[in-house]
Amino acid sequence: MEQPKISRRFFVSISAMAGAFAFIPASVKSAYISAKNLFIPQKRALPLSVSINKKLYKLQQDTRTTLLDLLREELQLTGSKKGCDHGQCGACTVHVDGERVLSCLTLAAMVQGKEVTTIEGLANGDELHPMQKAFVECDGFQCGYCTPGQIMSAVACVKEGHTGSVEEIKEFMSGNLCRCGAYNGIVKSIQQVAQ
Ligand code: FES
Ligand code: FES
Repeated sequence: MEQPKISRRFFVSISAMAGAFAFIPASVKSAYISAKNLFIPQKRALPLSVSINKKLYKLQQDTRTTLLDLLREELQLTGSKKGCDHGQCGACTVHVDGERVLSCLTLAAMVQGKEVTTIEGLANGDELHPMQKAFVECDGFQCGYCTPGQIMSAVACVKEGHTGSVEEIKEFMSGNLCRCGAYNGIVKSIQQVAQ
């Protein structure tokens, strides 16, 4: 399994935690397990086996960790964005067993044994997914912050067959907000792929 690179944030947080942990009595330490960048209370530690972008990961997770935090903070798969962290913007959309889900509202524990696909896993090597190409060709983005979530939702929207009209596309993409207002390009991208 490929090990994620050590980020500056990870290094600072592990240093701080290691320092703090040194002053904790052994009886308290034994109640925790050390896993990657976390000290997880034993009672909350959960072994998790999940395939992400066709790679199998076997991890120790805190039962409270969301899928979004697992992807971004532990595996450095930062394509999925944290916009609101409350299920309101769609920036964190990923696929679980082919269905679109909001990863900020999904506990990591819920994807045990499942296949997760993020924006990083959509292209085929250097070959962009048709929806990624369509977003480029149809100006489906401006700043790009919402774009990974828009593209993951757009792929699902086509697969679900909700592309019969502009109104239908808008309805089934309404969970994905774009502060830049690139909605016309997003709808055109979906129509292009649906054709
Ligand atoms: S970050 Fe998940 S819906 Fe906004
Ligand atoms: S492209 Fe900027 S938020 Fe959508």
